[in-house]
Amino acid sequence: MTTALTKAVIPAAGLGTRFLPATKAMPKEMLPVVDKPAIQYVVEEAVGAGLHDVLMITGRNKAALENHFDRMYELEQTLEAKGDREKLRKVEYSTDLADMHYVRQGDPLGLGHAVLRAKMHVGREPFAVLLGDDIIDPRDPLLSRMTEVYERRDATVVALLEVPASQTHMYGVATVEETEDDDVVRITGLVEKPPQGEAPSNYAIIGRYVLKPEIFEVLEHTAPGKGGEIQLTDALLELANDESSGGVYGVVFRGRRYDTGDRLDYIKAIVQLAVEREDLGVDLRPWLREFAANLD
Ligand code: G1P
Repeated sequence: MTTALTKAVIPAAGLGTRFLPATKAMPKEMLPVVDKPAIQYVVEEAVGAGLHDVLMITGRNKAALENHFDRMYELEQTLEAKGDREKLRKVEYSTDLADMHYVRQGDPLGLGHAVLRAKMHVGREPFAVLLGDDIIDPRDPLLSRMTEVYERRDATVVALLEVPASQTHMYGVATVEETEDDDVVRITGLVEKPPQGEAPSNYAIIGRYVLKPEIFEVLEHTAPGKGGEIQLTDALLELANDESSGGVYGVVFRGRRYDTGDRLDYIKAIVQLAVEREDLGVDLRPWLREFAANLD
């Protein structure tokens, strides 16, 4: 029997320099995707998969994150007094969403180091890691499928996406073997951001992981890798090579994913999500068609 998952860890300590000057005084995780900060989609996803205990790994300049998931008395009272139930509901929703915890990363030593900062909070339990740059459409559940695979195999599980060869240099890339499940592969090799043309496959890790507590021991001795940073990918490779760990499996995601990691993808994500919204799509769709038709 595997231990049930209850905890999610969300690394959110990055400086977000790709979005300067927007991120000079505001965390990139607070950038709105339509009308909701990017980070709220990710917390909603964790909660949707039954993970109500959320630990965020933050850093300097991240106070807005804590404020967003905390009560806002003045605002709530003002909306209450006005009788604006609709807006009050929106304000209260993010407060009540999850049981939020925070720890600072301290030194910016990489994703592996950020995850290691969760050790005290997580203890000897399995946990999920969700990276904020990826938004997974709630209609295409990924994390719950990964949890199922973890429970069945008692193994570490990562999310994989087949990407064009021109994009593999931006991801951790896996060498895989098929399993009897059409959407599950066994990972035999991993390389963090391989140079263009040198990727072992098109299977890129997207930012969802189900990890066993053994990862902490591995991260404690993982040497700095790509970019001089402690890479989660390197720690996962060690587990993949260690039979006694249960191995590492990949769930191949074929659903809708929105990348908010760079400016162009961020703009696309907003448009894609907005056209699907009941309150905005009706007006946005015809406008977009006309706008696109007039582009040269
Ligand atoms: C991180 C990981 C990488 C993974 C990616 C997914 O990189 O190191 O292995 O493929 O997230 O988004 P980052 O994008 O934080 O540089």
